[in-house]
Amino acid sequence: MVRETSLSVANLIYPMFVTFGANIKREIQSMPGCFAESVDLIANSAKEVHSLGIPAVILFGIPERKDEQASGAYDPDGVIQRAVKEIKNAVPELLVITDVCLCEYTSHGHCGILENGQILNDPTLELLAKAAASHVRAGADMPAPSDMMDGRVLAIRAALDSEGFTSTPIMSYAVKYASAFYGPFREAAESTPAFGDRKSHQMDPANRREAIKEAAADIEEGADILMVKPALSYLDVISDVKRAFNVPVAAYNVSGEYAMVHAAARCGWIDYEKVMMECLISIKRAGADMILTYFAKDAAKILA
Ligand code: PBG
Repeated sequence: MVRETSLSVANLIYPMFVTFGANIKREIQSMPGCFAESVDLIANSAKEVHSLGIPAVILFGIPERKDEQASGAYDPDGVIQRAVKEIKNAVPELLVITDVCLCEYTSHGHCGILENGQILNDPTLELLAKAAASHVRAGADMPAPSDMMDGRVLAIRAALDSEGFTSTPIMSYAVKYASAFYGPFREAAESTPAFGDRKSHQMDPANRREAIKEAAADIEEGADILMVKPALSYLDVISDVKRAFNVPVAAYNVSGEYAMVHAAARCGWIDYEKVMMECLISIKRAGADMILTYFAKDAAKILA
């Protein structure tokens, strides 16, 4: 009766990695229990996620070919576009969110079109909008731009509206830090930048007020859900964003946060289940309405 915060399976979103090829289910070394799976196997895994009561997944793609224009990101026959169709056919009730970024699709691993080693913001917007529209055309319920280019929410909103997808919401990675906690993800998605870093567009971990500025811009452009990422080192930021805006707030409990818990548990230094549940409830307590987390399946089993 006096507990202030609760965690429900309804708050969880499970990230999935879709790879090219057939009959592939490859465990990600630094993320025990997480797999990159080919399109033919993805629907079965999505069914399992749904059967645990988890309402949503977010998809990341690992394309066969990468190029300067990130063409795999908006290929109607790309890994994500095909995976979305498979999942929506097999489990129509499962909400399918798609990550929208170019870094998994560019040969250099950067989040946009490059010129002289710099990302060109505006030409990149066109490709992001094309990618998001292609996901929704394939049946995705909600694109989630994670690139941090300026103006991408507006560009995606306009592209969706022009195709008649006026009621498709956008979940924006509004407050995304240039974090070292993304290391295991980049191994999984094969998206480590070939040179340099992402500090030209992702945020400085020292900045808190700037989070409100970033979030306000995305709301202005039409974002329906704001995300803060990573989660655990940024609980103050989740709290600020929740107080400042009257929209649902998502938090991304990222790959490095997941990997650390597993690594320590494997050493026998912490209790895996207890630490996992403590992490998740703390993210809720800070103000997140929903949590994107690789722990979703394990947590769902405990919550059941
Ligand atoms: C970009 C993207 C990243 C993550 C989600 N979307 C990586 C990055 O910005 O380098 C990281 C997620 C995680 O670490 O779990 N497509």
